[in-house]
Amino acid sequence: MIDPSKLPVTAKTAEAAYGQPAVDGNEDLVWSTVPALQTETKGGLKAAFKTLRDEGHLYVWAKVDDAAISAQDKIDIFAGVGGVNTRITATRNGEPAPDGTSRAIVEVEGGYVLEAAIPLPAPGSAGAQTAFDLRVTDGDANTTASWSDMRGNQEADPSGLGTLTLNEATYAARSVFGTPVIDGERDRVWAKARERSTERWAEGADGATAKFRTLWDHNRLYVYAEVADPLLTDASANAWEEDSVEIFLDQNNGKTGFYQGDDGQYRINFNNVQSYGGRASAQNLTSAVKIVDGGYIVEAAIAFDAVPPAENGVIGFDLQVNDDRDGNGSRDSVAMWSDPTGQSYTDTSRLGVLQLMLSDLPAPRNVSAKALYHQNIRVNWSDVEDAYGYDVYRATGRSGPFERVNKKPVRGSHYVDHKLKDDTTYYYKVTAIDKNGESAASETVSSTTEKSKGKGKKNKED
Ligand code: BGC
Ligand code: CA
Repeated sequence: MIDPSKLPVTAKTAEAAYGQPAVDGNEDLVWSTVPALQTETKGGLKAAFKTLRDEGHLYVWAKVDDAAISAQDKIDIFAGVGGVNTRITATRNGEPAPDGTSRAIVEVEGGYVLEAAIPLPAPGSAGAQTAFDLRVTDGDANTTASWSDMRGNQEADPSGLGTLTLNEATYAARSVFGTPVIDGERDRVWAKARERSTERWAEGADGATAKFRTLWDHNRLYVYAEVADPLLTDASANAWEEDSVEIFLDQNNGKTGFYQGDDGQYRINFNNVQSYGGRASAQNLTSAVKIVDGGYIVEAAIAFDAVPPAENGVIGFDLQVNDDRDGNGSRDSVAMWSDPTGQSYTDTSRLGVLQLMLSDLPAPRNVSAKALYHQNIRVNWSDVEDAYGYDVYRATGRSGPFERVNKKPVRGSHYVDHKLKDDTTYYYKVTAIDKNGESAASETVSSTTEKSKGKGKKNKED
């Protein structure tokens, strides 16, 4: 008989990108920026998991398939820097987390989800490596399934632990709903979309860059890119070495190390000559180009022809600018929005992601209402990044009708509603606003004003 614990192991390797999820058991958008890793499968037991990191933590999201709940079900996470490895155990029944770690466990159909933050022994920067493994235990069957050390021998022999290489963040952005005309002119609808830019270099360190926006509707993804490139050339025989823009689209956000059937590379040069990789073709790409002073504008529409787009759904997306700077027929630089690897044409795992939204601004969170002194209610919320102000809506019933109470956008993250009636419950919602419009409304909160205390009483402010 072979003792499996004596077999040599081939330790696994993976990447942990920068990202800061809220550790609450909800799958924040930032988790969709990274691909899932898998443990082995042992009967009905397995886990899919993701990792993220910031300067001082490793974050883990794990979904365990284990249908029957037992007191011994658990996840062990092994992490270490510089040969000092620690094991963090998270039991399915949610025993308190050890000092410095935080975690949330949620039961889901067929298993459970763990979200955890583990302090890293040394602050991590890109390129640094962390030993890592994840092992799930099914208490009923007394089986374990691991990612790297399939012997389950992590405590005794750290050579089986895998390695995570710390990476820069993969970008996540929101794309708003709207349908432009594809003619190279900037229709008014583009004003709804936030402008982003290509600031990462996959090749070279300067050269042509683009400012771009995206929109989506039920049929297509739209891109409007203004490329700054003073000398336009298509001297090369290779399409990718001509001055051009490439759009990468991973319709199922599969984040695979190869191209799936839904993945496409859509290239458009400054003469509106298209070229294609993967799913891209003349059938699913419509484009227009306008040459302007100092560069060119590309407007393009790509059909969602493999996966229908869903509101709040996430797609893989990136934008690349190729520049033959001196017109000698060879490419000098490649600027990207998110993926700096230069492998976007064959690997979708590092593409940025877009969440398909009706509005581009998130609704304010952590909203609360508190009756202050006589006839006043203070509404608080957390700042929304990129908002220039907020609107506060009030009603006297939970379901409305709501009316805006502020005249000008509220600056800051609170509002005091004055001159209310005594002993009355008021309901509030808050929206964020920016130059493109208004976000969805926050959750509804309420508070009840004080009973009248008669005349002459002094109100005390805190
Ligand atoms: C890459 C090239 C690659 C080409 C293939 C481009 O996006 O930058 O390096 O050879 O795609 O089409
Ligand atoms: Ca895909």
